[in-house]
Amino acid sequence: MDARELAGLIRDWAPGHAPKTGIVLGSGLGSLADEIEDAAHLSYLDLPGFPRSGVSGHAGELVIGRLADREVAVLSGRAHFYERGNPREMAVPIAALAALGAERLILTNAAGSLRPEVGPGTPMLITDHIAWSGTNPLIGVEDDGRFVSMVDAYDPGLADLARAAARSAGVDLAEGVYMWFSGPSFETPAEIRAARLLGADAVGMSTVPEVILARHVGLEVAAFSMITNLGAGMTGAALSHEETKREAAKGAERFRTLLRAFVAALPAERRETR
Ligand code: HPA
Repeated sequence: MDARELAGLIRDWAPGHAPKTGIVLGSGLGSLADEIEDAAHLSYLDLPGFPRSGVSGHAGELVIGRLADREVAVLSGRAHFYERGNPREMAVPIAALAALGAERLILTNAAGSLRPEVGPGTPMLITDHIAWSGTNPLIGVEDDGRFVSMVDAYDPGLADLARAAARSAGVDLAEGVYMWFSGPSFETPAEIRAARLLGADAVGMSTVPEVILARHVGLEVAAFSMITNLGAGMTGAALSHEETKREAAKGAERFRTLLRAFVAALPAERRETR
């Protein structure tokens, strides 16, 4: 099934909705899906080509409805490169959202901070990335569209809206460069020192392939990390997925406040006549 057919299937399932904004919810942030009004839920199992995510903390459903009076399509649950070694895991959902008429994609993740003053519980606006995994989701695509410019991949206009939304919501928003490590093992302390030298502010195991895929299909991108820990070796403590989920859940309310304020700041839509 191609992206247009998938979009048709989704439209039949969620009649009257025309989401302009896609949102990918990362580890421990799935609770935002509960805030969607007038929601239609579609399991990834019913959407051909959508990933079968096996990571705890990821639900695997598409929720279409309204958030802060904007039409949104929430991908609750992502599949990661480290699950099967495929950087294209999220290609079909992202192409389907674009075919559905979405204009922008908001990506969220949990990440480790490389800056001691930016600790667990802090949201971070991603302004750029370093792809450190030696692969790219557009390898194998056979048209000139694959040569995607990554200048301003994180849309500067959306970033300005995010900063303003954070200020008005009273949320402290860090910002910086996200470096993609494949995982699933966490980084070594030496890798974290190297990442800092290379100019990264946070590290994580997702999002970067999705940004590239989204730019390939013409979606504008905004991305946010929920900092759940300091990078390996910065505190002497071992890192764990339990900590990631626990700290992401603790910070989830602040993160939800930020995302709601951000979505409310997006351009208003004309309401569809049903
Ligand atoms: N490293 C990689 N991924 C992560 C981290 C980290 O420290 N914390 C949450 N996700």
